[in-house]
Amino acid sequence: MISTRIFFILSAFLYIPAAAYKCPEGVDVINPPSDLETPTFYPDTWSEGQPIPSLDSNQHCFTTVNVPSGFYANVIFYRDFTTDSGSYVTYPNNRITRIVNNDSYPFYFTSPQFNINFQNPKNITDSSYKFAFKIRWGKFPPVPERLINIDRGNPPVAIVPNSDLTVFIANPNSQISLMAFSLVNSSQTPLLRQSAIYGGDSFDSEFIGTLDQVLASKYPLTAYQNRLSVYTFDLKNHFNYPLFMGQDTQDTREYVFYTGANCADHVNCVVLLDGLFGNSLTVTDSEHIEHVKGFNTFSSTAVINVYESHVANTSFIASLTPDNYFRQLPLKVGGIMKFYELKGYGSCEMIIQRSSFF
Ligand SMILES: *[C@@H]1O[C@H](CO)[C@@H](O)[C@H](O)[C@H]1NC(C)=O
Ligand SMILES: *[C@@H]1O[C@H](CO)[C@@H](O)[C@H](O)[C@H]1NC(C)=O
Ligand SMILES: *[C@@H]1O[C@H](CO)[C@@H](O)[C@H](O)[C@H]1NC(C)=O
Ligand SMILES: *[C@@H]1O[C@H](CO)[C@@H](O)[C@H](O)[C@H]1NC(C)=O
Repeated sequence: MISTRIFFILSAFLYIPAAAYKCPEGVDVINPPSDLETPTFYPDTWSEGQPIPSLDSNQHCFTTVNVPSGFYANVIFYRDFTTDSGSYVTYPNNRITRIVNNDSYPFYFTSPQFNINFQNPKNITDSSYKFAFKIRWGKFPPVPERLINIDRGNPPVAIVPNSDLTVFIANPNSQISLMAFSLVNSSQTPLLRQSAIYGGDSFDSEFIGTLDQVLASKYPLTAYQNRLSVYTFDLKNHFNYPLFMGQDTQDTREYVFYTGANCADHVNCVVLLDGLFGNSLTVTDSEHIEHVKGFNTFSSTAVINVYESHVANTSFIASLTPDNYFRQLPLKVGGIMKFYELKGYGSCEMIIQRSSFF
């Protein structure tokens, strides 16, 4: 009994890291275990709490992970490379994302599969490239559908994360576009990976993206039919403000970039109106009054039209030009949704402040 315990303590101290591992030839395929409570570790000689295992020299590793319909994989990558490049994950919609060092936020992958590839150079020292990952398996719960009807000509509908499957439904023969909102604290942006967007109205529909992909692209994500759904896992425990909005695709066509911006209350907040490639629309959504207080930069080839609640002549409140904007500041903007439409080219860094009073 005592000797067993001593052996156990000694072996804990005398932990010898495993030799650097090699990847199998060809594509390694991972299937979920029969007991989905059991996590999957890669490499299978490693498990959580142990140091990240080193990769042998000159490895090119390709792994396909199959995710059955109705399930998802929550994956944390453990990586310590001396370079930024060399490791990527490909989503089921073929979007490729770089895997970086020290990123402890999980990725969520849905059916049918995702691919991981990583590689290192020849002639490396044994411990300079380390890579491992852990998969936790989950089953989509039977959640209610929250149906949101979208008519052409209407403003976007912004949604705070919730535990339902949000289903946007456009008119027949129309399409839905989805735009994402930035976070108050942009360091939390990797949390937006905890989302799944479908071109259809159920978890069985085609996976077409995640909120962080939509936010990074700045473009509306369009479903090629009149329904688009969004599931946000447990993001409602992190954010109580809108993260996405849906609108009829025809009503988003005028803009190259179209995004939402979130700001904290009562502090100056910098919102980028990005007209790098032409007209853009930036939306904020809150019950508070907003004041445009100034601009850090104002493109000489841009005009900013400001609208309350709706982009329409009846709700137009100001047109800010490089020559006259300073005479119009501070500009009070009301309505729940505030629209900052940049017409022209170039970017403007706008400073706004939200307050609960006039
Ligand atoms: C990343 O993690 C490694 C090992 O855990 C640590 O030594 C290193 O300082 C971390 N790097 C950064 C940029 O946090
Ligand atoms: C790797 O090391 C060997 C022996 O030191 C050397 O012959 C070879 O050129 C090196 N290869 C690379 C790619 O640096
Ligand atoms: C922003 O989020 C990061 C990561 O969660 C956190 O470390 C930091 O304190 C946050 N900053 C503010 C101003 O809340
Ligand atoms: C405002 O009215 C003009 C002229 O009727 C029209 O060309 C323009 O598209 C309208 N703008 C909006 C945002 O409805």
